[in-house]
Order: sequence, then structure tokens, then C-alpha cells
Amino acid sequence: MQEEPALRSWWMPFTHNRHFKAHPRLIERGDGAYYTLVDGRRVFDGLSGLWCCPLGHSPTAVVEAIREQAGILDFSPSFQMGHPGAFRVASRITELAGRPNDRVFFTNSGSEAVDTALKIAVAYHRARGDASRTRIIGRERAYHGVGMGGISVGGIPANRKMFAPLMMPGVDHLPHTFDPSKMGYSRGQPEWGAHLADELERLVALHDASNIAAVIVEPMQGSTGVIVPPKGYLARLREICSKHGILLIFDEVITGFGRLGTSFAADFFDVRPDMITFAKAVNNAAVPLGGVLVNESIYQAFMSGPSHLIEFFHGYTYSGHPLAIAAAEATLEQLAPGGDASRGWIAKAAALAPVLEEAIHSLRGEPLVADIRNLGLAAAIDVTPLPGQAGMQAFRVFEQALERGLYARFTGETLALAPPFISTPDEIRNAVETLRQALRAAA
Ligand SMILES: Cc1ncc(COP(=O)(O)O)c(C=O)c1O
Repeated sequence: MQEEPALRSWWMPFTHNRHFKAHPRLIERGDGAYYTLVDGRRVFDGLSGLWCCPLGHSPTAVVEAIREQAGILDFSPSFQMGHPGAFRVASRITELAGRPNDRVFFTNSGSEAVDTALKIAVAYHRARGDASRTRIIGRERAYHGVGMGGISVGGIPANRKMFAPLMMPGVDHLPHTFDPSKMGYSRGQPEWGAHLADELERLVALHDASNIAAVIVEPMQGSTGVIVPPKGYLARLREICSKHGILLIFDEVITGFGRLGTSFAADFFDVRPDMITFAKAVNNAAVPLGGVLVNESIYQAFMSGPSHLIEFFHGYTYSGHPLAIAAAEATLEQLAPGGDASRGWIAKAAALAPVLEEAIHSLRGEPLVADIRNLGLAAAIDVTPLPGQAGMQAFRVFEQALERGLYARFTGETLALAPPFISTPDEIRNAVETLRQALRAAA
């Protein structure tokens, strides 16, 4: 394939580089819920960037906050020094989560948030004299980013197979919860599958609770294609973890800050994990920012020994970066004014969820469609694979949709939609109509 010389140097992430550089798709601008491509075409951003721009692109309040902050304090070291904004935003996040006593550890990405949470889990048990609790349980099909910890507990084979010798030992995986024969075309949470949480009991019996530090799950699996937890499943996981002294970590990098119409998925499912990892929507992705919300009792377990010594040997140069924090403060005010998720754009996302559900399920029976799922402001359709060409079919539909003015996400045989919270009901319906045309054109 002939690559364009100007595109040579950037080795793009999670991209078919040779194909892309021969057939580039370049974005020039973003405003509101739309991208403008370099050829001038306007495209509806059906995935909020990469699930991360609930307020759309370049919202004035966020842009102004970053601009102002850049002129006041561009960088501040977070090791043994601090700046007021990071403390304000941390406290705002704990309030939004309804966990005012929790602590927030800032990172720069979801992957770093996951690796941080895993380290906290293992170190927590050790600090309490339970040093044998080191094993982490993840789940099949999980996406927890691309750090060595994240791919170890993750369950997407392509993300793991090249790196197997470098991954963390002492990990095991729960089965994923997706079975189209039991939950095909479900709207919201499937009725079937809560019993799959009992697989955790089997793993506990196998490894012994005294060796297990934590279980990490995405409350709704996003990247693998919107796999919605069966009713009762997460509550059962919580119950089993509590019974055995195992920490439960929710990876809310996608679900955090409103994707399900509540502050966190933990609120939506009414299940309280011990830690929550977040990133993306926390600051509308304007400047990289992630973090871990940590239960007070976990934090306190580290607070021993002489008070002039560091308690947790972990952190990033850019933890709590002033620009990222300024963007977060402005974003959170838009998402949940005054810390109240029943107002602002999170509440509006909740109101849009039924519109997306209605629209996306109208694609049932269209050519290529093999399954449809949705929860909150997220939805996915599976397409029938092209024989012998795994992943090709969804890519073809993606291209047809882009041609018609819709950016969706394709992974494997799945197309996902997660529109910005600022979308109008008509924009969501139109996006689905575009997908319908794309399916018909690709068939
Ligand atoms: C659940 C989950 N965890 C972690 C990550 C990794 O985040 P990042 O790409 O910011 O490292 C993602 C990214 O999509 C994610 O969906």
C-alpha cells in the first residue's frame, strides 16, 4: 500500500497503520457534537471522541479555564508540593461520588489509573500484614488499558498475546457475561447471567482467599462492545468479595462522570466498590487526566510509620497537572453544577438514554445485524462477520457511516455509539438512521 509521505513518522496507536496511511481519515476541527474533516466534511461524533468528550468539542467554559490556568501556573510539582486546584477537584470528585471521605490519586490516563489501583490493592493488604494477598482477578473480554498491569487483568486476547512473558503473574479471570443465545437484543440489563458471579467462589476455592488481593471489573464492559452486566451480577460480586476480604475495583474509565446517566456506574447499579478508576470524561478529555477514587479505610492503612516519610511510593510527574485540573473543574461544573448530578449534562444524558435505546433497537432486522445492546448513553450492534476476514465487516460499515457523516467506533465485529451528552434527540435518531444506511450499503 502506498503511504502518504507526510504521514510516515507517527506510528499510530490501535490503528491499521498501513491502510490508514494509504487511505487517511484526518480530523481538522471539533465544535460541539461535530468534527470537521480536512476535506471540509462535517461528521457527527457518535462516540464522544473515544468515550471521553461528553460536552462535545472545545466547550467554551473548558477552553477558557485551560487558557486562564496556562497563564497563571503551567506546571506544578506534585511530589512534596501541591497546588490548590488539585485538592479542590479531588474533593469535588469524592462529593460527586457520594463518598466524601474517600481520597483521590491522580494519574494521566485510564491505563495508569488501573495500574495504580492494582498497586494500591496489593500494597494495602501488605500494609495490614496480609502480604500473601497478591493475586488479582480480572475478567475475560475486559479492557483495562495497556499498562502491563492492565493487560494482565484485561481479557482481550489481541492485547495480550504478544506480551505474555512480561505480564503480571498471579492473575486469574472470571468468565465474561455475554451469551447472545440468552440475552440477544436485550434492552438495558439482561435478566440472565447473575449466576456467573458465582464463578468468583470457584476461583476463591482454587486460589484461596488468603492469596487474593482484588477483583477488577468494568461495571459495563465498554471497549469490547458494550457488554451490559446481568441484573444482580455486580451485587453478587460485591457480596462474595466482602465475604472473603477481597477488594472490589470498578474500572469506570468509560462509565465515570455520567455515561449511564448517574455520576458513576456504582450509583447506577447501587453497588459500592472499594476503588473506582476514572479518566476520560472527568475533564472532557481536554488535557490527559485520570485517577483512582480510594476508600478512606484503604488510605488509612497506608498512614502509619513516621509522618515525615512517604507512605506510598508511586506517582507521575504530571499527577494533578494544573491544566488538566483546570479543565476538570470546569467540566465537572457543567456535568453536575454544584456537585449535583440530578442537574446539568449528566441529568440530560439520563434523559437521552431512552432515545438512544429506542433508535438503536429499530435496527433489528437490518442487513448484517446480529445483535443490539444498550445501557445509558451507550449502545452497540454486532454484525455478521465476513467469512475468513475477522473484523472486516464492522470496518466496512464504519467506512460507509463516515462517508455519510457519522463517526462510530468499530472493534472486532462490533460498532459502538456513545454520543456526547449535548446531542439533541434528533441528532441521536439521525446518527442511527445513518448507521441504517451504512448497514444497507455494506451488505
Ligand atoms: C475501562 C477502561 N479502562 C482503562 C482504559 C485505558 O484508558 P487510557 O486509554 O486513558 O489509558 C480504557 C480506555 O478506553 C477503558 O475503557
